[in-house]
Amino acid sequence: MNFGVLTSGGDSPGMNAAIRAVVRQGFAAGVQVFGFTEGYRGLADNEFVRLTGKSVSETIDRGGTILRTARFEAFKEREVQLKCLANLRNEKIDTLIVVGGEGSMRGADCLVELGAGVIGVPASIDNDIYGTDYSIGFDTALNTVIEVLGKLRDTASAHERIFVVEVMGRRSGAIALNAGLAGGADYVCLPDKPATDPGQLKKIVELTEKRFSQGKNHTLIVVAEGAGSAGSVSEAVQAATGREVRISILGHIQRGGSPSALDRVLASRLGAGAVDLAVTGGSGLMIGLVGNALQTTSLKDTFTKSVETDKELLKLAKTLA
Ligand code: F6P
Repeated sequence: MNFGVLTSGGDSPGMNAAIRAVVRQGFAAGVQVFGFTEGYRGLADNEFVRLTGKSVSETIDRGGTILRTARFEAFKEREVQLKCLANLRNEKIDTLIVVGGEGSMRGADCLVELGAGVIGVPASIDNDIYGTDYSIGFDTALNTVIEVLGKLRDTASAHERIFVVEVMGRRSGAIALNAGLAGGADYVCLPDKPATDPGQLKKIVELTEKRFSQGKNHTLIVVAEGAGSAGSVSEAVQAATGREVRISILGHIQRGGSPSALDRVLASRLGAGAVDLAVTGGSGLMIGLVGNALQTTSLKDTFTKSVETDKELLKLAKTLA
């Protein structure tokens, strides 16, 4: 049997651990694995490398992706999808394993509709893919954010300032909410409501005033990028409170770094699980982790159904702030 593997969309720490698991689990099952470079772009142009157990040596702890990745807009064209299908057929690839986020699962489903065998592996720091409790890279990103929040608290406290910290997540508030809770943020703004919404701004003003009156000399506000830019939030908070505000935009540092132990284990389980599914003829599915057990979801569901904000966690973050 021959399998293909590619990483697509925004990179996330642990993608290499997933590739490694696909290659080594595949090897154990007698499968040759081809790695396509730069996601669907490499598949369309038939750019691949034959992967061996050795090619993935010393990659479990590496961030980024050894296959590189891309956001490949041209893949939306039917002609390009057909080229991808033809390349899979020419190289006699039975199943393609796609490691990526929601958009990558959508792309995978297009190939399934054309008749290809495809299995998805969820990887995104945003943790917004339906069908898995956790996507690869989320835990590492959270650890990066909480480390920075601790450092910002030191300087915020020293200067009696308010800090607005912008974290990634255009449509997903998972990083903001979880890092806010784990990092002890005082207020969290999620993408479902603009951070500069008058009602929300009023709550932030009341909170900072209450905190200062209680002798707490700083306030940390975490804003998901989808809730508004740190700059606009900072201006609004400064105008409303009359206090000194500074911003910190964490940006792509959240996507880099060596994967956490949890992400390495998750990526290894999901990568190996994808191979097990493919060996038995599975296709059109994404493998995820639900309640600590591997579980499959149809690729279509992964991008047509959405992950709701965890209301219980939100309530807890508010209570504990
Ligand atoms: O999907 C992951 C993510 O990091 C989002 O949180 C962020 O909005 C986006 O990718 C940034 O994408 P790019 O690296 O293409 O600017």
